[in-house]
Amino acid sequence: MNQEPKQKLLTLLDEKNAKVAILGLGYVGLPLAVVFAEAGFNVIGIDPDERKVNTICRGESHIQDVPGEQVARLVTSGKLDATTDFSVLRSADAVSICVPTPLRKTGDPDLSFILSATDELAKYVHPGMIVVLESTTYPGTTREILLPKLAEEQGLSVGEDFFLAFSPERVDPGREDWTTLNTPKVIGGITPACSEVAAAWYAQALQTVVPVSSAEVAEMAKLLENTFRMINIGLVNEMAIMCDRLGVDVWEVIDAAATKPFGFMKFTPGPGLGGHCIPIDPLYLSWKLRGLQYTARFIELASEINTGMPRYVVGKVQDALNEQGKPIKGSQVLVLGAAYKPDIDDLRESPALDVIGLLDKKGARVSYHDPYVPHLQHDGWSLDSVPDLMQAVKTADCVVIVTNHSNYDYPAILAAAGLVVDTRNALGAAGRDNPKVSRL
Ligand SMILES: NC(=O)c1ccc[n+]([C@@H]2O[C@H](COP(=O)([O-])OP(=O)(O)OC[C@H]3O[C@@H](n4cnc5c(N)ncnc54)[C@H](O)[C@@H]3O)[C@@H](O)[C@H]2O)c1
Repeated sequence: MNQEPKQKLLTLLDEKNAKVAILGLGYVGLPLAVVFAEAGFNVIGIDPDERKVNTICRGESHIQDVPGEQVARLVTSGKLDATTDFSVLRSADAVSICVPTPLRKTGDPDLSFILSATDELAKYVHPGMIVVLESTTYPGTTREILLPKLAEEQGLSVGEDFFLAFSPERVDPGREDWTTLNTPKVIGGITPACSEVAAAWYAQALQTVVPVSSAEVAEMAKLLENTFRMINIGLVNEMAIMCDRLGVDVWEVIDAAATKPFGFMKFTPGPGLGGHCIPIDPLYLSWKLRGLQYTARFIELASEINTGMPRYVVGKVQDALNEQGKPIKGSQVLVLGAAYKPDIDDLRESPALDVIGLLDKKGARVSYHDPYVPHLQHDGWSLDSVPDLMQAVKTADCVVIVTNHSNYDYPAILAAAGLVVDTRNALGAAGRDNPKVSRL
């Protein structure tokens, strides 16, 4: 076995002389590029989106979690650069792929971004290169899709002159305590040598690297993490529905259960799942298993409950208005919060979009407010965030709290509103037993 490419690459990585390329400069790729650049590597980000590339080249950031000043400093010092030109991969030693993995309209995995990134990379792959896939995907993708295109079709021997691994990204946008830098990073290679090289690279920049025995273990670990969240959220959403039937306060139930110091983890109900990960990733797993004649029942059930939540919330609005003798049709309904979770501007898969769409279909006059999202466009409709929040609260027949942004003045909103549907317990105790508040 020829050890030379591996040794050379390990030396380049050890001395931080390896040229790093990041494919995809989104929520995952830009923070990762910045972490490698801060560690001392020369990093080039490659993205077909010219706007993102230009933003970075100007020394600005398009990602809320990455400060513009940091990008400016790294770009000025020459540690970070960005381009739309994939041919720079010719001189790259270490490449990380952080492209989207959405679902098709049919609910099947859309691997088109992974495929196009891999096809571009295949033109420039060379001996002594390490490639790490970060995009969340079904177990087997690295070996079944990337390996043939990057090694076998190029006449490269994996684990000997070319190295390939999977390392799931765990970034939680908006979070400050756990970031790309300090969140432990699982890495699994196609061969033990691939794991060794990938771990050696990432350990130069990230605080904790967790090597596992294969790419498939790393791929499946990510899906276990996200499936765990999806199912527990589905469970607690069903608890909310059951508590409602029983006339029991689900929030008090959860707080009581959470006093158990072991064997329980707190999840809270809400208007539905959002974000690029939790509603989507487990469906990659169930899709893969369907091909193996196995139905991932927990995933299917949780998905059904979670995707039904926006409709359940609209039912709550309808009931609350009905109590005041008003039909939903023609009522002015103000939705507070459009992002999928508090204090961020990410709209991807946000349940607010479904809640607004369903209210609109029922004939409500819908408006929304979100301090982070000035404009909404979805499924053929578009809206601007109302300019005067308190005025809109006062005039609405019903205010629906969909996203509990922390900078809302909830006592003032409650005082000014005629009717509130609180899907996040944002009003806390003030919303309990309050005749003008309906809670999940
Ligand atoms: N956002 C999160 O919180 C998060 C967390 C963990 C894992 N992930 C996973 O990470 C992956 C990336 O997610 P993201 O949130 O960064 O997506 P994103 O949409 O923010 O960014 C992806 C970027 O890839 C670019 N791109 C598309 N095709 C490309 C190509 N062929 N070559 C190079 N770049 C290309 C896009 O222009 C975009 O800028 C997904 O698989 C996602 O599931 C995301």
